[in-house]
Amino acid sequence: MDVFQVIRDRRSIRKYQDTPVEDAKIEQVLDAARLAPSWKNMQCWRFLVLREQADRTKLLAAIPDDNPGKKAIAAAPVVIIVCADPAESDVENGIEYYIADTAIAFEHLCLTAHALGLGTCWMGWYNEEQIKSAFNIPDGIRIVGLTPLGYPNQEPKPRPRKELADIAFYDIWPDNC
Ligand SMILES: Cc1cc2nc3c(=O)[nH]c(=O)nc-3n(C[C@H](O)[C@H](O)[C@H](O)COP(=O)(O)O)c2cc1C
Repeated sequence: MDVFQVIRDRRSIRKYQDTPVEDAKIEQVLDAARLAPSWKNMQCWRFLVLREQADRTKLLAAIPDDNPGKKAIAAAPVVIIVCADPAESDVENGIEYYIADTAIAFEHLCLTAHALGLGTCWMGWYNEEQIKSAFNIPDGIRIVGLTPLGYPNQEPKPRPRKELADIAFYDIWPDNC
């Protein structure tokens, strides 16, 4: 699969098969995250991989029932909690770059998972403090997101995207945008 095809065909997957994910594939998606670019190459990201079903109870308690991805967290064979140490990044122009660093790594992980036939769903709606205390995540570490990981049990249609003309401009910012 070429990279654009992977980008185009990736979807947020919220239904999973029971089939376990091979350790080599887990390692490959983590390795793709590891290779991401980052502020001064400081690599502030950290990944906590949950493979035991027992861990899910603690995690589910921290996710609102209205979150459309909650059932996927319960069902997927693996969940990855994507974290960052902000002390290993910087703030410039008011932008906390640990979020950008970790988001890039997270998307590397999601795209690689798709290329390997696996599904993911970036999730940002949870109680961070509850997850941190349940999994012994230190005070200074932030949770940037989490994702189920497993073989998809659905083929969602593409969600709409804005037209290129509405989001990309040439030479000067147009007056009407
Ligand atoms: C930062 C971020 C947070 C998200 N949080 C959630 C979430 O908590 N629960 C969920 O079901 N989906 C979540 N999503 C998935 C989005 O709803 C999804 O990416 C969007 O609808 C586009 O669909 P697609 O990923 O299939 O293209 C999140 C996505 C991003 C990038």
